[in-house]
Amino acid sequence: MADTITVTDNRTGRAYEIPIEHGAVRAMDFRQIKASDDDFGLMLYDPAFTNTASCKSRITFIDGDKGILHYRGYPIEQLAEQSTYLEVAYLTIFGELPTKAQYDQWVHEITYRTLVHENIKKFVDGFHHDAHPMGMLVSTVAALSTFYTESKDIFDEETRHLQIIRLIAKMPTLAAFAYRHSRGLPYAYPDNDLSFTGNLLNMLYKMSEAKYKPNPVLERALDILFILHADHEQNCSANAMRAVGSSHVDPFSAIAAAAAALYGPLHGGANEEVLRMLTEIGSVDRIPEFIKSVEEGHGLLYGFGHRVYKNFDPRASVIKRLAHEVFEVTGRNPLLDIALELERIALEEDYFIRRKLYPNVDFYSGIIYQSMGFPVEMFPVLFAIPRTAGWVAQWQEMLLDPEQKIARPRQLYLGPETRDYVTMERREAKQQVPA
Ligand code: CMC
Repeated sequence: MADTITVTDNRTGRAYEIPIEHGAVRAMDFRQIKASDDDFGLMLYDPAFTNTASCKSRITFIDGDKGILHYRGYPIEQLAEQSTYLEVAYLTIFGELPTKAQYDQWVHEITYRTLVHENIKKFVDGFHHDAHPMGMLVSTVAALSTFYTESKDIFDEETRHLQIIRLIAKMPTLAAFAYRHSRGLPYAYPDNDLSFTGNLLNMLYKMSEAKYKPNPVLERALDILFILHADHEQNCSANAMRAVGSSHVDPFSAIAAAAAALYGPLHGGANEEVLRMLTEIGSVDRIPEFIKSVEEGHGLLYGFGHRVYKNFDPRASVIKRLAHEVFEVTGRNPLLDIALELERIALEEDYFIRRKLYPNVDFYSGIIYQSMGFPVEMFPVLFAIPRTAGWVAQWQEMLLDPEQKIARPRQLYLGPETRDYVTMERREAKQQVPA
């Protein structure tokens, strides 16, 4: 049996044999299908890329029906149990787990790049006291490109490596500065004796003590959460990273675009929305009323549903277990009872069953973050820090892929035909509607 598909154009009666590779056909193979000689050729229409692969990738594998997530072949459950965030970052970027020597070198490189230029503090100072930390993060990471002008040299391997290190290392510092600014606290500098997440907690929470000592359970819990968030194949922000990076802009500017995409409530901003939603529901007895309003089309059940997972999100399962470990230190978050009951009721409702809507990574992560003392505005920031590893891995894979070019979709133009300009005095008022 040939690995091809035969397409018959019923307008002309002509048949075309199109190759199938890796379970896909190439969109450009359809361009030869024309109704007449001056026809542009057939295009594929796929708003929101629901059935279009934009790249070949070797980084992350998801089987949405089975609830499987692998980074470079390793199951997420094993990585969450046995690995560290920095090891996973290495894995996503280089494709293999590091040896001890490679790991030590990697951790050293990142640890010694955590400081940011002192001028960054001046930008952060300029933000209003209640500025959203994600807005501050998006702006300050973009600003880093102006400090590292050599970062434009994206095809030089050494330069690219240095920017990757800088990005992973400095995102926590920028995030912590944003947090300290919103609290009116002095900025706390990195402590090189601490782990990646221990140092983040230090920069966030250090007060007047000479040395900050992170709670080991919370430090590890945060590390596990970071492993779970490291990459997730071609999601909205990874797609933004690749699309913006495909113009060959520096990686700081591309990451700013990716972080902006993550900020939205349908993506990484969902964890913040979940917390607000649970708080608004307020008590278990109000859940049925809330579910009814969602079913009637008045808003979403945030933290539910996924473009790819149609069974369960394996990250949500790990997080649910982790929550109990965290609560042993922090005390049980009362919102957990509302979340558990909300999940139980939603999973029995026809509306959610028919649409295959299950809890995603954001459903429980916010409850843990809140228990650890993070304000809700910090939740998307806590998503952006670890996702940086995935963004740079996706960006580098895109740059090194000889098949990739500047991302530039086609459109189906449905607007007016050619018409002559009408001077203002001859125009008739038409209703102003967004078109
Ligand atoms: N609550 C209520 N209805 C929903 C939800 C939800 N959370 N999610 C999807 N639906 C409905 C949707 O209205 C549609 O209904 P109908 O067929 O009647 O029009 C149906 O389910 C199919 O959904 P869709 O919007 O076509 O699915 P999508 O693949 O385009 O969207 C999603 C995926 C994650 C954006 C969506 O499920 C959603 O908005 N969820 C809430 C936000 C959220 O939790 N986002 C975090 C995603 S996971 C972390 C990340 O990657 O950022």
